[in-house]
Amino acid sequence: MRFSGQSTPHESARAHVTGEALYTDDLMSRFPGILHAWPVMAPHAHALLARLDISGAEASPCVAAVLTAKDVPGENDSGANRHDEPLFPEEIAYHSQPVAWVLGESLEAARIGALQVRAEYRPLPAILTIEDAIAAQSFHSTPQRIVRGDAAVAIAASPHRIEGRLSIGGQEHFYLETKCAIARMDESGGVMVEASTQHPAETQEIVARVLGVARHRVTVECLRMGGAFGGKEVQANPLATIAALGAAKTGRPVRVRLPRRQDFALTGKRHPFQAQFTAGFDENGRICGLDLTLYSDAGWSLDLSDPVMGRALFHCDNAYLIPALSATGYVCKTHKTSQTAFRGFGGPQGMVVIEDILDRIARTLAVEPHIIRERNFYREGDVTHYGQTVKDADRIARIWEELKTSSNFYERLAAIHRFNAAEHHRKRGIAITPVKFGISFTATFYNQGGALVLVYRDGSVQVNHGGTEMGQGLITKTRQIAADCLGVEIDAIRMMPPRTDKVPNTSATAASASTDLNGAAIRDACRQIQARLAPVAARMLDCDETQVRFADGLVNDALTFAQVVEAAYKQRVPLFAHGYYRTPEIQYDSKTAQGRPFSYYAYGAAVSEVKVDGFTGEYRVLRADILEDVGDSVSPLIDRGQVEGGFIQGLGWLTLEEFLWDAEGRVATAGASTYKLPSWSEVPEEFHVSFLKRATEPGVIMGSKAVGEPPLMLAISVREAIRAAVAAFGSKGIVAIDSPATPERVFWALRRAQGREPISSTAAEVMHG
Ligand code: MTE
Ligand code: MOS
Repeated sequence: MRFSGQSTPHESARAHVTGEALYTDDLMSRFPGILHAWPVMAPHAHALLARLDISGAEASPCVAAVLTAKDVPGENDSGANRHDEPLFPEEIAYHSQPVAWVLGESLEAARIGALQVRAEYRPLPAILTIEDAIAAQSFHSTPQRIVRGDAAVAIAASPHRIEGRLSIGGQEHFYLETKCAIARMDESGGVMVEASTQHPAETQEIVARVLGVARHRVTVECLRMGGAFGGKEVQANPLATIAALGAAKTGRPVRVRLPRRQDFALTGKRHPFQAQFTAGFDENGRICGLDLTLYSDAGWSLDLSDPVMGRALFHCDNAYLIPALSATGYVCKTHKTSQTAFRGFGGPQGMVVIEDILDRIARTLAVEPHIIRERNFYREGDVTHYGQTVKDADRIARIWEELKTSSNFYERLAAIHRFNAAEHHRKRGIAITPVKFGISFTATFYNQGGALVLVYRDGSVQVNHGGTEMGQGLITKTRQIAADCLGVEIDAIRMMPPRTDKVPNTSATAASASTDLNGAAIRDACRQIQARLAPVAARMLDCDETQVRFADGLVNDALTFAQVVEAAYKQRVPLFAHGYYRTPEIQYDSKTAQGRPFSYYAYGAAVSEVKVDGFTGEYRVLRADILEDVGDSVSPLIDRGQVEGGFIQGLGWLTLEEFLWDAEGRVATAGASTYKLPSWSEVPEEFHVSFLKRATEPGVIMGSKAVGEPPLMLAISVREAIRAAVAAFGSKGIVAIDSPATPERVFWALRRAQGREPISSTAAEVMHG
C-alpha cells in the first residue's frame, strides 16, 4: 500500500481537539521555578531613551531580575539579516518597543515590576506613513528594479493608456498561539530553548550571537506551532533571545509569551503597499507596456523586507505576459513594527496590482474582464520579466477552461447580467482570476533540506528533519513519505519535533517548499538504509540484491522489516542515515535581475460570486469554486485544508481586515474586537475545491507540488467580483477601490460608480486615449 496520496487526517488532529497536543507554553508547568517575562514598553514611536532606572522594579516583590543592555554578554542585537534590531535600544524606533524586560516569579509580579521602571524619553518626529517616508526619502535599502524592454516607449506607442494608484493594507497574522519561548540552562552549561519558531536554526544562531557563545552551546526545539503564517519566520528570535538571556542571568528557566495585545503591538505584519502604475494596451486589451512602482511600509528594521519586495516584483506579472516592463520597489523605513513574512511573501501584493490593472483595462474597453485576462495569459515557452521560461504555461489555460466549465461560469455571468439589469439597489458580481506562484526560496542557498532517519532493532523508526509544523500538515505528509520510502507501515514511523541537535543549519519552514525539501531529504536517507539492508535481505532470501523489495513492513512479502533489521544489526550494518537534498537548476543574479529563481510554478484559479447592497456597501460571498494544481497530492485532505484556509485568509486580507495605526504610531486595532477576522459567516455559502488531474510534477517528491501559500492569492477573485458588482451600479467606468474592500470602501466606490461622489483623491484616476 502507498501512503502518499491517501487522505489521512492531520497526524495531530485528535490531539488538537482533545487538547493533548503540546505547544511551547504547555511545557511551562514542567519547569519548577520558572520565571515569567514582561516588557517595559516605550510610549513613543520615535524617541531617545534619556534615562532608565530599574531600581524600583528590582525592589518590587517577587521580581527576580530585570534585563537591560548590561546583561548582554554578546551582541545587543537580534536582527536576522542586517544587524539593525537592538534588543535594548537607546533610540526608540516604534511605539511600544521594549526597553527592558522584567522577570518575575509570576506574570503578575513581572507586570507590576515593569510599572516600577522609571524611563525618560526625548520624543523625536516619527515617520508613520509611506507618504511621509517618500517625502523624507526614508528607505531601508536601494530600490530594486526589474526591467524588460523599454516600457516608456511601449506605453507611449500604445493606443490606450491608464494611470492609477492603489493602496493595499497590511494584515495581522493572528495565529491562535501567540509568540512564545522557554529557555533553561541544560545539564552541561548550554542553553536549551523551546520556541514557537519556523526557523529553529536561525533562532539558535541569534540566541548564540546575543549570548556571545558558539552555536553548539545552544539547542532549539519547536514542538509545533499554533499557526505561524510567516510571522514566526524571523520574529520568534528576539523573544527566544530574551528567554535565553534571562536563563543565563538567573540560572532559572524563563518563559516569554506575548499576550495578544503585545503580539499585535510589538511584532510585524504583512507589509502595507502603495502602487503607482501606467499601463499601455492595444484595442484588444493586450498589455504593451507597464511602468510600475511599488512602495512597502517595512517598519523600523529591515527584517525580510527586501526579499518580500523582491517577490512582489517577481509576481507583478501573475499569469500574464508583459512584453515591456519597468518595475521598481522601494522599501520604506517607518517608525512602526517591523513588517515581515506573511503567506505569499509579497507575491499577493504584486498580483493584486496586475489584477486591478486588468480590470481597469476591461472597463476602459467595455470588454468582460475574464476575456482581457485570457488574452494576456502566458503561452507555452514565454519568458517572464526576470528571464525564467514558463515551461508549463499551458496549465494556466487548462485550469481556466476546466474551472469555467465546472463552475458554470458563462451561465452564471449571463444570469448576473439579467439580475443586475432588473435590480437597482442590489448587484451581483462574478470574477475569475488565476494564480501563478513561483516555488523556491529566492535566496537560492536556502533551498536545501536535511533529515536524520534512525531505525531501531525492532523495526521501528524515528524520523527527524528540519521542517516545523504550524498546522499546515508537513509532519503528516513527511510521515507518509517516510513510510513509502522505507517500505514500512505508517505506524512504524515516529516523527520527531525538529531540534537543532538532530539536523543542523536548516532553512526556515517557509516558501511552501518544506515538503519538497524535507521529503526529498528523507527519501535520500531511506534509500541509503535500504541499500544497506538489501544485501542482508538477499542473503536471507537467497535471491539477488536487485530483487529485494521493501513494502508494507515486509521484505519480498517473506520477511518482516524487523527481521531484516535485526539481522543487519548483528552483521554490524549501521541502521541510521542522514539525508540531504538541494533543489537543482535554480539560480538568480540579483544584479541583472535575471535567472531562474523558481524550481516550478504552482497554478490555480478561482471563480467567486458576490452580492453587494447598494444602501450599505455590505456584501456576501455567495459561491467560490477553486481548481488548484497540487501535482499528485501527497495528502489530499491536508491539501484541501490548505486551499480552503489560504483562500479564507486571503479573503480576510482583501475584504475585512483593516489594520490601523493611530496618529502616535500606536496599533489602533490590537485585538479581535477591533480587527475583523473572517469567520464562519464569511465562508462562501457554496464552496467547491478541486485539484487538477493528471498533474504529476516531475522532479518533485512524489510528483507533488507546494500548496501552503498559493491559494491565498485565489481570494483576489473575491475582490474582483466585488469590483464587478460595484461597476454594475454605474453605466461604465473604472472601479478604483483601495484594499481591503471593506463595506465602507465598497459603499463609497458604488456611490462614485453611480456618479454621486467625486473620484476620491486616494483612488485618483487619469485616463488617456
Ligand atoms: N497553514 C497553517 N495551518 N498554519 C500556518 O501557519 N503557514 C503558511 C502555509 N500554511 C501556515 C499554513 C505559510 S506562510 C507557509 S510558507 C507554508 O504553510 C509553510 O509550510 P509548507 O512549506 O509545509 O507548505
Ligand atoms: Mo511563509 S510567508 O513563507 O512563512
